[in-house]
Amino acid sequence: MATVAVILAAGLGTRMKSRLPKVLHPILGDPSLLWVLRALPEDLEAALVVVHHGKEQVVAALERWQQAGLLPCPVIPVDQGVPLGTGHALQTCIPELDRLGASRVAILCGDVPLTTSATVARLCATPAALLAMDLEDPGAYGRVLQHADGRLAGLVEAKDATPEQRGIRRVNGGAYALPWPPLRQALQGLRSENAQGEYYLTDAVAAVAQERPVDVLLCAPEELAGMNSRLDQAALQAAARERINTHWMREGVTFLDPASTLVGPRVLLGPDTLLEPSVRLEGTVVIGAGCRIGQGSVILEARLGDGVEMRPYCVVEHARVGDSAKVGPFARLREGTNLEPEVHVGNFVETKKAHLGRGAKANHLAYLGDAEVGEDTNIGAGVITCNYDGVHKHRTDIGRGAFIGSDTQLVAPVRIGDGALIGAGSTITRDVPADALALSRAPQTFREGGAVRLRSRLKKPLG
Ligand code: UD1
Ligand code: CA
Repeated sequence: MATVAVILAAGLGTRMKSRLPKVLHPILGDPSLLWVLRALPEDLEAALVVVHHGKEQVVAALERWQQAGLLPCPVIPVDQGVPLGTGHALQTCIPELDRLGASRVAILCGDVPLTTSATVARLCATPAALLAMDLEDPGAYGRVLQHADGRLAGLVEAKDATPEQRGIRRVNGGAYALPWPPLRQALQGLRSENAQGEYYLTDAVAAVAQERPVDVLLCAPEELAGMNSRLDQAALQAAARERINTHWMREGVTFLDPASTLVGPRVLLGPDTLLEPSVRLEGTVVIGAGCRIGQGSVILEARLGDGVEMRPYCVVEHARVGDSAKVGPFARLREGTNLEPEVHVGNFVETKKAHLGRGAKANHLAYLGDAEVGEDTNIGAGVITCNYDGVHKHRTDIGRGAFIGSDTQLVAPVRIGDGALIGAGSTITRDVPADALALSRAPQTFREGGAVRLRSRLKKPLG
């Protein structure tokens, strides 16, 4: 039995007041559409994503996610052309659904990010069902009409409902699993004579329910809440934060201030790790056990081993940090940084495409770009790899157990051998052999009493 998902994502999202298509707005770093796709079961044939407004951006995002291996099944964009309603969105998928040999269709909305994978699995496991919720204020949602046995009897949009129907508090969440081709037949019979002049998918669902039983599955409202405005986005983000942080606290992670700590849905945290206030973790991030992540640190797409101590206000992006490394405060680890275990990177140190061997130290005010730093090498305060000549980037290769004195400029390409010692304040432009002492300083001079003479000259009145 081939189940194909259809994700509705063609809407403009006028109330977001944005150039970005609504389904690409993020919740804890991941776009709404990515949340929806990642909640799909892995045994689906494919997911069709109905696009139109901002489709170039949506299609580009789908390709990126597919390439990054973030999606559970192949995704195929389908352009709806002029969107004429949710039923029309499904009609434009008919050729693809036929081509894929679908026997069931699971339909979800790209702007409803918090439906859990457990709920989607439950939906996909029933022969025919829709997700519904009970709301105090059912507002503009479609109302669910049920038979005495609970099965679906019909769906009516708020704008088309009688006053009596508008009083119904059980509403349609817009997610369905339905058999194909029965849904196909219902779609072909759709008409747009209704309050909005649209082809309603709900009419097709109701038509299927005339022929066969359709279950009404109740969910928590949070799981079916849509993102239509920036206020919705903030509320969804708060709900997602609560859900994710609660999960990690149950798994043995300490949050000093869960309300200010933002942990994305693709983050994994080891037990006995502690997150200080205002930490933000987004993208694919893995943090081992027994780490401490300092206040205000931002970690994106990174992997930290066990026992890492990250002091406050570090920014880490596309980097790896080995076990028991110490980083920060105020360190910036940029793309391609790879710190082996027990490395120390201190305050105001920036690294990019830099590999620091076990036990290497760069404790203060340094820039290490396109660099290899051997085990146990010490990088002094103010050391800079001059890796860019204005056109090309060049490498600096430093061996093991070397000592690079403070305020040294290493003009790349350059190699420093194992155990070499560079005197403070040097500008190194040529390779230094192993165990050599290199110095490049203008010879120092002084004049006896010169300071006194200079000061008295400076104090003389002008003119
Ligand atoms: C729809 C349901 C309503 C349900 C609500 C749940 C219909 C007619 N009504 O209403 O019963 O309570 O969802 O949220 O289906 N979209 C397209 N192409 C279109 C129109 C919409 O792809 O031509 C997409 C939108 O981008 C959105 C989803 O379909 O992701 C739902 O559309 P929206 O206009 O928000 O539906 P509602 O009118 O809220
Ligand atoms: Ca609508």
